[in-house]
Amino acid sequence: MSKVTVVGAGNVGATAANVMAIREIADEVVMIDIKEGVSEGKAMDMMQTANLLDMNTTITGVTNDYAATAGSDVVVITSGIPRKPGMTREELIGVNAGIVKQVTESVLAHSPNAIIVCVSNPMDTMTYLIHKVAGIPKNRIIGMGGALDSSRFKYYLSKALNANPNEVEGFVIGGHGDTTMIPMKRFATLRGIPVCNWLNEETIAKVVADTMVGGATLTKLLGTSAWYAPGAATAEVVEAIIHDQKAIIPCSALLEGEYGQSDICIGVPCLLGKNGIEKIIELPLNDEEKELFAKSADAVRKTNGALPC
Ligand code: NAI
Ligand code: 2OP
Repeated sequence: MSKVTVVGAGNVGATAANVMAIREIADEVVMIDIKEGVSEGKAMDMMQTANLLDMNTTITGVTNDYAATAGSDVVVITSGIPRKPGMTREELIGVNAGIVKQVTESVLAHSPNAIIVCVSNPMDTMTYLIHKVAGIPKNRIIGMGGALDSSRFKYYLSKALNANPNEVEGFVIGGHGDTTMIPMKRFATLRGIPVCNWLNEETIAKVVADTMVGGATLTKLLGTSAWYAPGAATAEVVEAIIHDQKAIIPCSALLEGEYGQSDICIGVPCLLGKNGIEKIIELPLNDEEKELFAKSADAVRKTNGALPC
């Protein structure tokens, strides 16, 4: 029996739980929130789709009751405030750091062997904070951001190529921020064929720029940050762990010398399986990419410096 807890039953948490349930990624999904009734109501609403969707996952919702999360294989942390139009992810640090610290301690008290997937923003810094407070092996702490940014990159590539998004490959590394992420244009392909065979430099540059502000574009349209793709990207990461897929997905991982960086969580391609991050894949970056990665790491480190002690 596999069990996943989602902390925060807001837009992203509830969407992730719903995708996990519909795709039957885990046998049991528990949502927990501080808002009275919200998790319970959303879980009941989702369970009322079971017969409509032929779904066999059990979803429950609780308010503040961590006992109900006991024995989870994976815990997803989405609790915290989202960005509003004009706000950066980094501006959320003060409020979200307190929430993420308290939540990490509470979930580990009931699921000491869980793998933690951090979604709350600023995600790379919150993932780093979890490393500081959790005291668990580094393979069990994963930041979700690269899966989402890569999906947005593939979306913009498919639009520029006028191609089916499922035929496009591409990924994003670096920090999960408007100015820190690095869409890897050199490795982007349509069915394995480099996209530069169809797209000129100017178009590729626009795809990269649109990807980088992909979250901000949606925040402006929606009045809060997006949830469908963030929820689905979270479910993709959880699925790779629960189903031991050995899938390579860009995630925020603690680096200890890889890519020339240490004591930082930042997006890099990770091999995900039942043990969480089973391997960090070291790509042969060219000089331009190395420079972008070093700058991205500097910016993430600066945000980490704003963490309350
Ligand atoms: P939301 O406001 O819809 O949901 C957040 C939920 O967390 C609320 O229901 C709230 O009651 C709950 N919450 C607050 N404190 C809590 C606590 N101590 N324990 C349990 N629950 C608590 O926000 P949304 O849109 O779901 O975003 C959640 C977070 O995810 C934000 O920080 C947002 O910036 C981040 N995010 C990260 C993405 C990524 O790729 N890493 C993508 C999209 C959002
Ligand atoms: C997003 O990328 C704001 O991190 C959030 O949609």
